[in-house]
Amino acid sequence: MKLFLKLSFMAKDREDSLKHIVAVAKRRGFVFAGSEIYGGLSNTFDYGPVGIEILQNLKKLWWEYFVHKRKDVVGLDSSILLNPSVWEASGHVGNFSDPLMDCKQCKTRIRVDHFLEEKKGESFCTGKTLKELQKVIEDEKYACPSCGAVGTFTEPRSFNLMFKTSHGASEDNSMDIYLRPETAQGIFINFKNIYNSSRRKVPFGIAQIGKSFRNEIMARQFIFRTREFEQMEMEFFCEPGTQTEWFTTWLDYCMNWLTNVIGLKKENLRIREHDKEELSFYSDRTADIEYKFPFGWGELWGIASRTDYDLKQHEKFSGQDLKYHDQVQNKKYLPYVVEPALGLNRLFLAVLSDAYEEEKLEKEEMRTVLHFNPKVSPFKVAIFPLMKKDGLDIKAKEIVESLSKIWYVDYDDSAAIGKRYRRHDEIGTPFCITVDYDSLKDDTVTIRERDSMKQDRIAIKEIIGFILERMG
Ligand code: GAP
Repeated sequence: MKLFLKLSFMAKDREDSLKHIVAVAKRRGFVFAGSEIYGGLSNTFDYGPVGIEILQNLKKLWWEYFVHKRKDVVGLDSSILLNPSVWEASGHVGNFSDPLMDCKQCKTRIRVDHFLEEKKGESFCTGKTLKELQKVIEDEKYACPSCGAVGTFTEPRSFNLMFKTSHGASEDNSMDIYLRPETAQGIFINFKNIYNSSRRKVPFGIAQIGKSFRNEIMARQFIFRTREFEQMEMEFFCEPGTQTEWFTTWLDYCMNWLTNVIGLKKENLRIREHDKEELSFYSDRTADIEYKFPFGWGELWGIASRTDYDLKQHEKFSGQDLKYHDQVQNKKYLPYVVEPALGLNRLFLAVLSDAYEEEKLEKEEMRTVLHFNPKVSPFKVAIFPLMKKDGLDIKAKEIVESLSKIWYVDYDDSAAIGKRYRRHDEIGTPFCITVDYDSLKDDTVTIRERDSMKQDRIAIKEIIGFILERMG
C-alpha cells in the first residue's frame, strides 16, 4: 500500500483559484462555455455529465429538506411564461432595473453601481439617485475600465432586466410577454389554488425550483451571475405579526442546511442584514447569507420578509379576493410572507469552491482534489479493473451492477490505476475500488478513500457496509 505524505495548501490566492476551478470544471465535464463550437454566447454555460449530477443532488437535497421533511410546505411547478399583468403588479415592470452607462469611445456597457462600489466601497450607491451617481463619476474623473478614456461616459440610465418575448403565432395578435425573472410570482398567483386544493392552514409554505431569466450586465465571475439560472425559492405564508419569528426560524434553517446537509465550511459563510436604505420597497427585513467566493464575499441566499406586498398587489391587479379565511379565529386576512430565495448555480459555484484543493504530495507530486460531501458528489464509487482482461473486467462489472442498485457508480478501465485515481480525485468521487488478480482468488478488493488516500483490503461483500459507515 502506497502512503502519501500530505502537505496540503490552498491555491496561491483565491482569485487564482477561480481560474483553476474553471479549468477543472471544463477538463472533467462539470461546466462548459455555452455554444462553444459557434464561438460561444457570452455568459451562457452548459452543465456536463458530472455537473448535472451535482445540480440534481443539490435540488434533491433541497427538496427533501424544504418540502418532504416539513409537514407545513408543499411544492409547485408554475409556468415560466405568465400573464404580463403579473409583472405590472409585482413591480418588476416599473422597478426591476440596473443603472447603466456606456463609454462613447469603446461602446463598453458598464453597471454604474458595481463600477462605483468597487472604487468607493460596498453600499456606496445605496439610496443615491442616478444624477448623484453621475456627479461622482464626473467629479472623480474616472476613466473607462476598458479603453482608459476619461469623460466619455453617457448619462447613467435605468435598464429593465426582464427579457421580452412574443406570445402568439401571428404578428397581429401576438402579445409582448416576459420570461420570468424570479420563480416567486408563480407561487403568489397560485396561493389561493393551493390553499383551497391542499386544505393547508396558515402558516404554510409553497416551494418551487425552476429557471429564471435576467438580462444582467455581467462581471466576469463564471457562473455567479448569469442571464439564465435556476432558483430554489420558498414563500412561507404566516399571520401578520408573526413574520419576525418566522424570519429567524427560516434563516437558521437555511444556514443549517448549508453547513450540516451540504457541508459548506462555516468560515466561508456569513449573514449580512440589509440596513433600512438597502431594503427593497416590499420588505420589512432582509438578510443575505453570503459565501466567500474566490473573488470575495457575495450573496448566496436572500431571506426576505416581504410583508403582504405581493398578495395585496395581485388582489389589486387581478380583482380577485386572495385573503385567507382563518376559521379558528373567524377572520380574513392577507398573510405576510417570509421568503428564502436561493440560486442553484451560485450554490454549485460555492460547493465547487469549498471542495477545491490543490495538494502537494510526496516527491513534489501534486494532486487536485474536490472534497465534496458524498451526498453531493457525482459518483459515490468508481470501480477499476487492474487490467481489461483475464476476467478482471468481468468481476469489476459484477461489482458495478450490484452497487448501482444503491448509488450512481462509475466504471473505468482506461489508463494506469494512478491516472484513474487522479481523474476521480478531480471529479470528487469519495471511494475508488480496484479489482486485481487476488480478487479472482479470494473475493477481496482494494478500496481507496479520496480524502486520506488510505487504502484497505476488504471482502467484496463488505463494500456496502464499509462505504455506508464512512459516508455517515
Ligand atoms: N424572489 C426573490 C429573488 O429572486 P434575488 O435576491 O433577486 O431574490 C435570489 O435572487 C437568489 O437567486 C440570489 O441570492 C442568487 O443566489 C440567485 N440569483 C439572482 N440573480 C442571479 C443571476 N443573475 N445569476 C445567478 N444566480 C442569481
